[in-house]
Amino acid sequence: MRHFLTLADFTKDELLEILELSKKIKLETKNKIFKDYMPKQVLGMLFEKSSTRTRVSFETGIYQLGGVGMFLSSNDIQLGRGEPMSDTSRVISRMVDMVMIRTFGHNKLEEFAKYSKVPVINGLTDDYHPVQLMADYLTIMEAGLDKDLVVAYVGDGNNLAHSWLMLASKLGFELRIATPKGYEVKQEILDRALTFAKESGAKILISNDPQEAVKNATVVTTDTWVSMGQEQEKEQRVKEFDGYIVDSVMMKLASSNAIFLHCLPAYRGYEVSEEVFEGEQSLVFEEAENRLHAQKGIMVWLDKQRDAND
Ligand code: CP
Ligand code: NVA
Repeated sequence: MRHFLTLADFTKDELLEILELSKKIKLETKNKIFKDYMPKQVLGMLFEKSSTRTRVSFETGIYQLGGVGMFLSSNDIQLGRGEPMSDTSRVISRMVDMVMIRTFGHNKLEEFAKYSKVPVINGLTDDYHPVQLMADYLTIMEAGLDKDLVVAYVGDGNNLAHSWLMLASKLGFELRIATPKGYEVKQEILDRALTFAKESGAKILISNDPQEAVKNATVVTTDTWVSMGQEQEKEQRVKEFDGYIVDSVMMKLASSNAIFLHCLPAYRGYEVSEEVFEGEQSLVFEEAENRLHAQKGIMVWLDKQRDAND
């Protein structure tokens, strides 16, 4: 049985297989063909943080696959009152067929997976957001930019930046990450990516210079400067991220056919200007829609793996 906890756990071929499956299911969905890939299956969706896209894409996705999603907010279940993750996992995974979790520490997700009888999907932790990256890469493929791909990530060295590191180092494309000093990616995650990069041929640049990162890039992306759980640092962060806004001056440094991506929610005037967000190069809503298709690909792939090993 396989889980989907980080992209590091997958080979390049497996990631491409999931993406191809997502593309196929997207085409079927667009043609109003809904195959029961996962009939009567229940997806438990455990949220310890807010969500719009992740909740809606997984809940709609599992329904379109023939199953049903069960939204579980930690405010409403006993987990929020101190029931351990290990017990929560042993109970829920005896009743549902797959679980998606959004939580804080990545170790909490690993704890759940350790005790789970069913596949577990990472719907975002403080360290990673792998399901987002599958949608992002699907968008890049559809834009025809997956050849000679150069991604510039400008902003916080957070869960998104870490997931870009994993994706680039597994698939073998060029990734440049520019963060302010003190907001760099975690060293251990970077080291892991550099190890994968040796095999895949990925080029990875880490810098504190957004202009250097964006120069001739074919994809420019960013994320909020204040992630969930960091609200009290907002004032300080806004000061320290001065100069890291992706605006049209910065976009001009990128390749002329470059696209702009953002996982959303976006905070205009902070990490991205209104002009870039709403501009012609922005594919943020195509990207958001691709959450639905990519999440379905992941669920069907995990389910198939389980069947193959039964
Ligand atoms: N991008 C993303 O995961 O959005 P939500 O927080 O709304 O799920
Ligand atoms: N880095 C952001 C992503 C939100 C989808 C956060 O963790 O809040």
